[in-house]
Amino acid sequence: MNDLLSLIEAQNEEPTYENYRELVEKLNRYAKAYYVLDNPIVPDAEYDRLYRQLEEIEAKTDFKDADAPTRRVGDGLLNTFAPVAHKFPLMSLGDIFNDEELSAFNKRMFESSGSEVEYCVEPKLDGLAVSIIYEKGILVRAATRGDGTTGEDVTANVKTIHSIPLKLSLLTKEQRESLGIQDEFAAQKIPDYLDVRGEIFMPRDGFKKWNEEASKRGQKTFVNPRNAAAGSLRQQDPKITASRPLTFNAYYIGQCYMDDEPESLKEGGLDSRSSDSTIMPHTQYGRLQYVKSLGLPVNPLIRVVRGLEGLREFYNDTGAQRPSLNYDIDGTVLKVNSIEMQEEMGFTAKAPRWAIAYKFPPEEEMTKLLAVNFQVGRTGVVTPVARLDPVYVGGVTISNCTLHNESEIKRLGIKVGDMVIVRRAGDVIPQIAGVVLEKREGATLTDVVFPSVCPECGSALEREGDGVAYRCTGGLFCPSQQRQAIEHYVERAAMDIDGLGERLAEALIDQQFIHNIADLYTLTEDKLEKLLVESASKDEESKTRFLGKTVAKKLIANIDGSRKRPLNRFIYALGIREVGTTTAKILASNFRTIQDLMAADEKKLQSIPNIGSVAARYIVDFFKEEHNITVIDRLINEAKLELSECEQVSDMNADNKPYLGKTFVLTGTLATLKRDKAKELLESLGAKVSGSVSKKTFAVVAGEEAGSKLDKANELGITVYSEEDLLNILKENNITI
Ligand code: IVH
Repeated sequence: MNDLLSLIEAQNEEPTYENYRELVEKLNRYAKAYYVLDNPIVPDAEYDRLYRQLEEIEAKTDFKDADAPTRRVGDGLLNTFAPVAHKFPLMSLGDIFNDEELSAFNKRMFESSGSEVEYCVEPKLDGLAVSIIYEKGILVRAATRGDGTTGEDVTANVKTIHSIPLKLSLLTKEQRESLGIQDEFAAQKIPDYLDVRGEIFMPRDGFKKWNEEASKRGQKTFVNPRNAAAGSLRQQDPKITASRPLTFNAYYIGQCYMDDEPESLKEGGLDSRSSDSTIMPHTQYGRLQYVKSLGLPVNPLIRVVRGLEGLREFYNDTGAQRPSLNYDIDGTVLKVNSIEMQEEMGFTAKAPRWAIAYKFPPEEEMTKLLAVNFQVGRTGVVTPVARLDPVYVGGVTISNCTLHNESEIKRLGIKVGDMVIVRRAGDVIPQIAGVVLEKREGATLTDVVFPSVCPECGSALEREGDGVAYRCTGGLFCPSQQRQAIEHYVERAAMDIDGLGERLAEALIDQQFIHNIADLYTLTEDKLEKLLVESASKDEESKTRFLGKTVAKKLIANIDGSRKRPLNRFIYALGIREVGTTTAKILASNFRTIQDLMAADEKKLQSIPNIGSVAARYIVDFFKEEHNITVIDRLINEAKLELSECEQVSDMNADNKPYLGKTFVLTGTLATLKRDKAKELLESLGAKVSGSVSKKTFAVVAGEEAGSKLDKANELGITVYSEEDLLNILKENNITI
């Protein structure tokens, strides 16, 4: 790489205009390779280095060409965004929402054309529309849509967007080939005048990163990428816009001509016949290829299709891709491809007759926050959960949604009774993106008060080490923790008490038959048969009945059978944080009895290979807790557990089935794992993988575009794991993929 500036300096010469141009053109070539061709030719750091050289040359000289990338960020603040009258209005689009309306649209087009219609089909980008004017190839003005007739001048800010060329240049033949631009559509010359329309938007990754950083700085976050794009473009300081990850896709040519073309082609407006153009292709698709050949970015999903089937297929394909795209789209735009036919059909007052937006179900909806409940997990962490007026969003009905923790509630500034925006885009887990402040007027609102004591047992809450989460100190006294502790204790990989599921555990606690795991062993057949249980069948009306003799007898036998389990299972069954099946085995093989383990201090624990400081701390804390000691004493002395030696270390892997008997359901597309592979790996951990979600499902693993199964899981309150969670589970169990 020749280092221009050091060369010039070494020769002690002033940089010449040729040197300057060389650098400008090189930088523009690199930017085009990156933004337009999607094929970067130098690392970012190299671009940055050359950019700084350019800045230095400009500081030393009077060279300040309009197409230099340094022109992107102007100095000073913009006082207002001056109004700009669009020579040719920025139209809106009619909407359709279902297949019936799609057929009707296609029928209208068919009738107008007299034969099957060819369409240019495009994703409907969810950002904001702009018109960008190039005169003799130089970007001279950019304006927002405004009311369609008059917009705002946002030139200084639009210039900061790197994917928008400051100066048009023709792609080379190879570049055109790499982008699949046919020669017939490629521009031969730079037009003297071009008004290109398109969408400015913020890609999802940039949006996420921006919000994460804003959140860390304690600044306001954006509700969605569209608001982020709009907010970023309307900045008085273009430097701020420059710092935001905005991009652009062109989707329409308002006007385009050479100075020597007839006046009728230059007038613009709805009556001008742009189908007579001597320089532009005569199809919508061709025109997009044409602008692409001038170095403007065009969306890669755009294609040409024929007839109703073609439209349907594009809508379905694009919908299927939607979750995995790196930008938000809210539908497809279906345009008659022939410019001649477009001109014959013309416009209504607001929109073209030859195009329509076929919308997707929303990824974002507004709904009311009805309440915030606080749930207590097995390890006592208190999580706020928003109860929402059910809304259909991202293809799923959402009626509750986690609020994570107290700081999230504060960040959102949310109040019960607020109208909130629920978003389920790209990611699977729905979230509350923000409060609609305009809807607050006249609404009855109450503050969300984070409880000071455990909502289940009244014990004090204590702040977790990270300061964000609260944990109930009630331990096994807390009914919620009691229930979950029992559910954990009876698991296959723990004490393996068959027949004691979630429903029975809840009934036993609710009806005060038991409070903790030691109480399980005090149950008798006579007592247990009188437990009231809800009928399991969904079809029957929910009936309450006694558990009955037969089931009670079986359950007691199973509880009895659990007295003789290996020590490692018992250690795992206690539900100590960070102590999974593997750690439990390590502990059991290092301490012969539970008493020995209980007596160990942190130092001793940490000296054991594979026991880290965090686990050591949790283990010690667990055995310090008075209720835990009492429960273990009772288990040993009253229930007379006869814990056998640790399962053979050699059996560990063969026996490492922590999900034995648990049913998983896989739904949606998994990005890194094939469904079959995921199934196989889960099965190797003892899990069953089923095709449908029911109350018995242990967890649903939802990939991209998960549909009705995820819906059902949310409805039934079943744990939903993301693909990442699944990968973590596999990792924790030493399974490599
Ligand atoms: S064509 C005459 N194509 O949708 C041409 N619009 O209601 C009219 N939009 O705010 C627009 N993607 O910004 C067109 N591929 C696309 C589009 C698109 C998004 C937006 C546009 C406008 C709205 C139209």
